[in-house]
Amino acid sequence: MHIRIFENREVASAYAAALLEQTVIHQPHPVLGLATGETPLPLYRRLAEFHRQGLSFSHVTTFNLDEYVGLPATARESYHAFMEQHLFQFLDIPSSHRHIPNGLAADLLAECRRYDHLLQEHRIDLQLLGIGRNGHIGFNEPGETLSANTHVMSLSKSTRDANARFFETPDAVPQKAITIGLNAILESRHILLMAFGPDKADAIAGALSGEISTALPASLLETHPNVTWVLDREAARLLPESIGR
Ligand code: F6R
Repeated sequence: MHIRIFENREVASAYAAALLEQTVIHQPHPVLGLATGETPLPLYRRLAEFHRQGLSFSHVTTFNLDEYVGLPATARESYHAFMEQHLFQFLDIPSSHRHIPNGLAADLLAECRRYDHLLQEHRIDLQLLGIGRNGHIGFNEPGETLSANTHVMSLSKSTRDANARFFETPDAVPQKAITIGLNAILESRHILLMAFGPDKADAIAGALSGEISTALPASLLETHPNVTWVLDREAARLLPESIGR
């Protein structure tokens, strides 16, 4: 496990972008796990810049972590639209190489199985993760149990409140999402978790406390041999002085 603490999110994202660039350059068929939300935006801007400067992503395959249930891919708030707006339109990844769960599938269970099948065929080389204020990863919300495979998750109030800023009204935030499970995340060869800002400090301190609990899903990352935690000072502020400084 590596913990890197940076002055601010821009410098942290430059570090994360350089790690991702190495995967894209050196792997013949890199498989990237992608996240949405505010955290990866500076990183995605840098990837777009890399592409403008000549880095090709045409050999890359991507898997997004999650998608809201009930939103069409064309809805502005969907993660399909998010990825197009913030990343895919700027890169040359063929559309057939980009995977995002279909939140509008008539049979959501079959959609979860379809996604797991694809994930089994493409082990993720580098999985990007953000973290919820409640410690969720993907939309694996805290609870008495966690799911191994892709599943439909009822979103917690904390998650719906946090994501309300992306919707016209708080009530418009969907109640459910499809998310990949802990298996696919923990089977990734390398995990890059990014967390920025004071709202993430409690979740980061809990995840790195040494205790593993389904009440804080990110704590399960402590069982993985190759996780890089990319933090800014604010997100790292509750960590013991001895960590990562
Ligand atoms: C997004 C995802 C979530 C977010 C998390 C943090 O695809 O799966 O786990 O990474 O909710 O969101 P932000 O980055 O908006 O703080």
